[in-house]
Amino acid sequence: MIDVTDLEFKGSGKPLNGELKMPGDKSISHRAVIFGAIAHGVTTVEGFLRGNDCISTLQCMRALGVQIDESGDHLTINGQGFDGLSEPNRVLDVGNSGTTIRLLSGLLSALPFYSVLAGDVSIHRRPMGRVIRPLMEMGADLWGRSGDSYAPISIKGRKLHPIDYHLPVASAQVKSALILAGLQTEGKTTLTEPGASRDHTERMLRAFGGTIRTEGLVHELVGPQYLTGTDIRVPGDFSSAAFFIAAALLTPDSHLVLRSVGMNPTRTGMIVVLEKMGAKVSLVNKKEWNGEPVCDIVIDHAQLRAAEIGGALIPQLIDEIPILALIATEAEGTTVIRDASELKVKETNRIRTTVDELKRIGADIEETEDGMIIHGHPGRRFSGGPADSSGDHRIGMMLAVASQKSDAPVVVRQAEAIAVSFPTFRDQLAQIQR
Ligand code: S3P
Repeated sequence: MIDVTDLEFKGSGKPLNGELKMPGDKSISHRAVIFGAIAHGVTTVEGFLRGNDCISTLQCMRALGVQIDESGDHLTINGQGFDGLSEPNRVLDVGNSGTTIRLLSGLLSALPFYSVLAGDVSIHRRPMGRVIRPLMEMGADLWGRSGDSYAPISIKGRKLHPIDYHLPVASAQVKSALILAGLQTEGKTTLTEPGASRDHTERMLRAFGGTIRTEGLVHELVGPQYLTGTDIRVPGDFSSAAFFIAAALLTPDSHLVLRSVGMNPTRTGMIVVLEKMGAKVSLVNKKEWNGEPVCDIVIDHAQLRAAEIGGALIPQLIDEIPILALIATEAEGTTVIRDASELKVKETNRIRTTVDELKRIGADIEETEDGMIIHGHPGRRFSGGPADSSGDHRIGMMLAVASQKSDAPVVVRQAEAIAVSFPTFRDQLAQIQR
């Protein structure tokens, strides 16, 4: 049982200045542990995100018999291939993590033992049919609540057959689950996405010596594949950096440098939007770690204008929409976000929680069927006061950053949720406010 914590966030009233190292990328950290476990030989991971979501994946892999040594954000994984995984003697607890439950559903469907995946209240409300159905098409024996739609998910693993599947939603979690099943299945698995979702699984698979062919929105892999352990360096999480980018954009005269942030183009749609809005963002010191682009982000405060956000860009900034909504309150004009219905099935209904909580502290914002409309008033401050993360880490951090333009402190209820992806958030915000 996690204690419910109210945390008070107070804008310093001063420009934000300094250099920060962002915590490891959440998506890449999950995948590093999973691939390290299914590869043969030793994998080391440097910069692993010690957030609750990734720790859930780590504990699940241990419960499946994988030996993982930890020393701070450094992991050593003793992979013994798919065959090295063994039946867990308890329910696998995924906590709040959609990535853990969906990716492991795919992995476990092809392994010859019984397993059950369950998590917290929020995870049991999120749609699992999107991963259960295509796995059933591959011949998997797995079940979920309410007609195979929700967790807990129970799985009796068995030999699968390949499919040619068109994903109904652009979801990296579903795509990755099917890749993890396809890697263990004899023959060619073909996956076609309706839009490009993040491609960390494909990049990581190649880093471990595996093969997947991608042409446009079509992915093809031939199984079974033999993967070899490697050394993974996890870049900083762009989605975490987004909160500091926003803090600088809301605070006149700010100048921040964010070091070694992952810049995978399937994740950085927010930069495209910010450039349209007139933000000053420079990407410097570019490099590549395990096939993932990385750079430092330099951000200066600038006057912004409103933008229209929708279409194919949405999957590339889906996790940044709450913080983009906050940024838009400071832009001249009306910002419209559309085509973002997927937000309704995240950790919370993020259209609803973003609009309700921002309105409560003083923003001029409306909910729509598939997004929101934000009326920007540059320089106009929020009243601040109580607000609720609703147990959603990204809503909690967005509200904390909103304190930069609030008269009274913003008191975030259920602020403990922030540790899901960014345990050092509060300390690092305080560091640049000094
Ligand atoms: C993630 C994929 C995205 C994203 C989530 C992490 C991943 O979800 O919103 O925070 O690590 O694969 P979808 O699978 O719905 O795209």
